[in-house]
Amino acid sequence: MRVASGDEITSEDVEQAIQSACDNVALPHDREIIHTLVRDFTIDGQRGVKRPLGMHAARLDANIHVVSAAAGALRNVAAAVEETGVQVQKQVLESVATSLAVLAEDESDLGVVLMDIGGGTTDLAIFANGAIAHSGAILVAGNHITSDIAKLLRISYKQAEEVKKKFGTAFADMTNGDDPVLVSEIGTHEQVRVPRGLIADIIQARLVEIFQLTIKNLEQAGMYDTVTSGVVLTGGGSQLPGTLEMASEIMGNTPVRIGSARGVGRMANRVASPIFATGVGLVLYAANEGADARPPATPYYLELVEKARSWWRKYAQPRISAYLPGN
Ligand SMILES: Nc1ncnc2c1ncn2[C@@H]1O[C@H](COP(=O)(O)OP(=O)(O)OP(=O)(O)O)[C@@H](O)[C@H]1O
Ligand SMILES: [Mg+2]
Repeated sequence: MRVASGDEITSEDVEQAIQSACDNVALPHDREIIHTLVRDFTIDGQRGVKRPLGMHAARLDANIHVVSAAAGALRNVAAAVEETGVQVQKQVLESVATSLAVLAEDESDLGVVLMDIGGGTTDLAIFANGAIAHSGAILVAGNHITSDIAKLLRISYKQAEEVKKKFGTAFADMTNGDDPVLVSEIGTHEQVRVPRGLIADIIQARLVEIFQLTIKNLEQAGMYDTVTSGVVLTGGGSQLPGTLEMASEIMGNTPVRIGSARGVGRMANRVASPIFATGVGLVLYAANEGADARPPATPYYLELVEKARSWWRKYAQPRISAYLPGN
């Protein structure tokens, strides 16, 4: 857009440039925008300007990264959260929240790939020049590893989760592969000895898939080169020993580190596991936005009424109904 004020860019020009970039986003009717993140600005054809305010130019355009989501899914998530008595003020892309907790400022300036290996999805985001440049998700993550172990060893999902956390590694040669792990088969409850190396092989196949799909996603976005600046792994699924080494090996020996929450003062030790990174990031996001961070919105008397109702249903009603006619 043309700079309205003549040639010196004012804050109104910046706002208008962002607005006009947003207006040009064509979105299907069943999707809603959750973030409009400004990557940088182009002034008089020159890209990559971070702070255009006060510069002299005839033309200013904003380059934005828009994150949208299915409107129905957003409503369902909000309804599920509000059912617990917590009021939803805003919905935030996981990677955006996680980045606040785990990335150092110079890391997101230089360029970094953030991989959050969760339960159902592996969330990807690229940060460059201090802003998000790409986001995506892969529908394979930690829970798929657990399901594979359950199916292939014929054990329950619960036991597979325990086996994964206790004995799982990303490479078979990280332990003595012949070491037996005792599991009980579903149905027969028979105790079976499984070599630890087999568990590692099952895990390895899925982890390789996760990293290969990541490469594909970044290549399709034309941003695979960012990987050379480094990868930060986070989420519960990044905790298996050897995951870091595997990521580096598959992604061309790039530097990889595990991202734990930082910038949380005395709480740091308690939330150090990468499993808490998104949670801490959400708190930091709300704090940055100056959100109302009071505890659940459920009024005290509503909780009392609910307690009284459940006491009535559980204890009083069955006893009283025994004396009523017809019983
Ligand atoms: N110590 C561990 N070793 C290996 N895997 C683990 C460990 N702890 C948790 N996980 C796995 O991490 C996954 C959950 O991670 P996380 O809590 O980050 O997911 P989430 O944020 O709830 O899910 P999503 O991001 O998909 O919505 C599960 O698959 C779980 O089995
Ligand atoms: Mg997660």
